[in-house]
Amino acid sequence: MADLDSAMMLKDLVGWNQTPDDLRRLIEYEPDGCFIAELDGVPVGTVSTTSYGTALAWIGMMLVHPDYRRRGIANSLMLRSLDYLRDRGVSCIKLDATPLGQPLYEQLGFQPEWTFQRWERSGERVASFEPAGQLSPDLIQMDRSAFGADRADWLARVASACRVFTAGSTFGMLRPGHFATYLGPVVSYQRNEVESLIVEMLETVDGRMLWDIPQSNGAAEEIAARLGFRPVRQLLRMWCGESCPAGRPEVQFALLDPATG
Ligand SMILES: CC(C)(COP(=O)(O)OP(=O)(O)OC[C@H]1O[C@@H](n2cnc3c(N)ncnc32)[C@H](O)[C@@H]1OP(=O)(O)O)[C@@H](O)C(=O)NCCC(=O)NCCS
Repeated sequence: MADLDSAMMLKDLVGWNQTPDDLRRLIEYEPDGCFIAELDGVPVGTVSTTSYGTALAWIGMMLVHPDYRRRGIANSLMLRSLDYLRDRGVSCIKLDATPLGQPLYEQLGFQPEWTFQRWERSGERVASFEPAGQLSPDLIQMDRSAFGADRADWLARVASACRVFTAGSTFGMLRPGHFATYLGPVVSYQRNEVESLIVEMLETVDGRMLWDIPQSNGAAEEIAARLGFRPVRQLLRMWCGESCPAGRPEVQFALLDPATG
């Protein structure tokens, strides 16, 4: 799995939180749609695609080795992945942009959808834990309505590495990370259930944590602040294509992952 080792080496250079399992899952889900750029045999950049049928696909893991930037490598990787997705008949493509990536995506025709912030709780260490809990058809339906597209297959694969929590019309997941546990997704159709479920989730792990929250979801931001998280950076969800399904950020109290939506 040389590609996995190269992708891990590159993502470590930019300090992202993915584990080898996260990258392996992306490659196994979309084996022909994850790309590594090489220059003179040296791996210098990555990009992943994750398709949810033909209605929607996500582009993620867009990064280039710091020594090889501003040579058009990211642009080539983006063109390659856009071609791949369009050949598959995908009608809408989304991604979550950092400020460094945003100009590149704008030049390729991506438009802003909404912003979200990464919130962080500091900690000396990262928790390790075993997966637990079930992803029932009800939870998949809740996620579909919140996200705007059916990503049941992908969600089930992610959930197999996570702790899954439920309470009435609310569910949440905790996922292991390289340097921090990731909280998300959390979807809730009953505001009075969500804070106690998140408290219950946090009681099961200690250490450093990350949590991505749509900026239009003020209730989620208030909960995060009360629970000792603070915002550390802003990202922009962007889209291009036709008939783009709209998610419902007001019921997404935590996003699944900027690499896949
Ligand atoms: C964002 C990122 C992927 C861009 O990678 P890159 O390979 O440098 O991107 P490109 O070379 O295709 O384009 C970057 C700029 O270089 C310019 N450029 C491209 N080829 C060039 C060349 N031969 N000479 C000079 N400039 C060039 C592009 O026009 C673009 O300019 P602009 O920013 O003024 O519009 C990279 O900065 C990165 O990995 N950042 C950290 C991780 C990150 O934030 N990723 C984005 C996640 S959404």
